[in-house]
Amino acid sequence: MWSGAVRAVSLRPVRAALDAAAGKPVDCRRVKCVALTFDDGPGRYTDTLLRHLAAHRARATFFVVGQNVAANPGIVRRTYAAGHEIAGHTWSHADLTKLSATGIRSQLTRTDRAIKAATGVTPRLIRPPYGAFNTAVRLQSPRPLVMWSVDTLDWLHRDSARVARKAVRSARPGSIILFHDIHPTTVRAIPRVLRKLSARGYHFVTVSRLYGDRPPRLVYGTTRRPRPAD
Ligand code: NI
Repeated sequence: MWSGAVRAVSLRPVRAALDAAAGKPVDCRRVKCVALTFDDGPGRYTDTLLRHLAAHRARATFFVVGQNVAANPGIVRRTYAAGHEIAGHTWSHADLTKLSATGIRSQLTRTDRAIKAATGVTPRLIRPPYGAFNTAVRLQSPRPLVMWSVDTLDWLHRDSARVARKAVRSARPGSIILFHDIHPTTVRAIPRVLRKLSARGYHFVTVSRLYGDRPPRLVYGTTRRPRPAD
């Protein structure tokens, strides 16, 4: 009985790897998952980041600023085509809590339109800049608001080793880790993050995948975290 249970558990990562190789989506109830998220882009370092992610077959979520998308639709199209999730981070990186209902809606819908024009799909998630939201923002937002559970403070500490260390030490199953791909120091930290967390058995998934494609209305990354098999 006991040995049977151990065998069943130990086979799960193998099955997950086979599923991944076959192109099946990762099941974060069975394996350890973490969601890497990149805000404020796209920017001049985003293509380099895409190469790092591809080298580890990692998927990530990009919370893009609408006016940057309009200026660089090609990079957003490439990001989406590589299997990453594109989500909204307002049109001009506005603090939504300082806007009227009309202002909030305008920030969100303009961004949706720019993303749809670039990728052909409407984004499913929103991250309010500064993580700032209130009741008005929640009422005007047609989709889940996504926060984070690990803040690397990469915008403050422009130090790749420090950023990587913070991400690796803080990661837990179900973590949503906040980065900004507009900083070269952050993009340089990512290969180390991918290597170290891969070695610990983590799979890198989009935020939507982390929640089995059904994220709750408000997401912090640890409030409803999927239970790993191990
Ligand atoms: Ni931001």
